[in-house]
Amino acid sequence: MNAIVTNQITKSFNGFIAVNEIDISVKEGELFGLLGPNGAGKTTLINLLSTMIRPTSGTGTVNGFDIVHDSASVRAVIGVVFQGSTLDEQLTGLENLDLHGRLYGLSAGLRKKRIDEVLDLVELSHKSGLLVKTYSGGMIRRLEIARGLMHHPKVLFLDEPTLGLDPQTRLHIWDYIRRLNREEGITIVLTTHYMEEADNLCDRIAIVDNGRVVALDKPEKLKSALGSDVIILTLDTPEDAKKFYRVCKETGYVSASTKDQTVYISVKKSEEAVPEVFKTAFTSGTNIQSITMRKSTLDDIFIHYTGRGIRDELVDDITYMKYKLQTKR
Ligand SMILES: Nc1ncnc2c1ncn2[C@@H]1O[C@H](COP(=O)(O)OP(=O)(O)OP(=O)(O)O)[C@@H](O)[C@H]1O
Ligand SMILES: [Mg+2]
Repeated sequence: MNAIVTNQITKSFNGFIAVNEIDISVKEGELFGLLGPNGAGKTTLINLLSTMIRPTSGTGTVNGFDIVHDSASVRAVIGVVFQGSTLDEQLTGLENLDLHGRLYGLSAGLRKKRIDEVLDLVELSHKSGLLVKTYSGGMIRRLEIARGLMHHPKVLFLDEPTLGLDPQTRLHIWDYIRRLNREEGITIVLTTHYMEEADNLCDRIAIVDNGRVVALDKPEKLKSALGSDVIILTLDTPEDAKKFYRVCKETGYVSASTKDQTVYISVKKSEEAVPEVFKTAFTSGTNIQSITMRKSTLDDIFIHYTGRGIRDELVDDITYMKYKLQTKR
């Protein structure tokens, strides 16, 4: 059975189309990733599925319930961890969880049991009596995940679960996400800017750009579609790179891209393709300064489908600032 199905789901804001006729289905128990740059429409899609906003057109179901006509049933079976923190910083960790349990109508006994469970899961039991404003960024994220789990959701939405966190904390949170998915059988939809996060965690990934899904498959399938190797050529000037990029396109390589004076060419086997690339360069009068090879990454896939890269370090700065602004509100 499918946990989530959308049918041409679309959301516009005053004529601006943020989510554009998206069709996806997420299987029960799947860990599904939405990968895309800033403004791609990831959060808007999560907001639609979690019934925070209504679609302009198209439909969607979560756990079989219609997101517009049966939104109360949808809300009862989902957990959401929003992109920005929505915890009350003036309350303790425990009070935040208790409030959430009350909102979901859990009895006092059940609240206590679940709070103990989820705090244990995210290893925050020892901090539960402290005000949230004293928590570190990673602790806040973990408490939010704990809160999203309080009412045992069938589907958990995680919008940028590791935004602005240090690599160690990120690995820690990946572990929780995997455990929740494998051990508790929770269907998880997460959004991310991080290629390695999507690659590491997700069963399938939808690459989203300008409100549309531009590619959707298992990470390894996405990668192998392009060829498993990348040849990187450094030429004399950016103009040379652009010229050679056009030659590559005409020659019929699966994918090529260019940045500054470098050209990236995706190939099945680099050792077989290198002589051919040299020949193409020679006949087009292109001087090669250096040549290196590496395995394909999701980055290459992303560039192939969207025409641009998302550099983690650049995105990091922007999203971290955004996160800080949101949490300061
Ligand atoms: N309430 C709103 N009113 C007007 N425009 C909106 C609204 N919400 C989102 N948008 C626009 O829709 C587009 C998609 O935004 P969204 O937040 O879904 O992107 P995202 O993929 O989550 O980006 P990020 O990676 O930065 O979180 C953006 O151009 C954004 O400005
Ligand atoms: Mg977002």
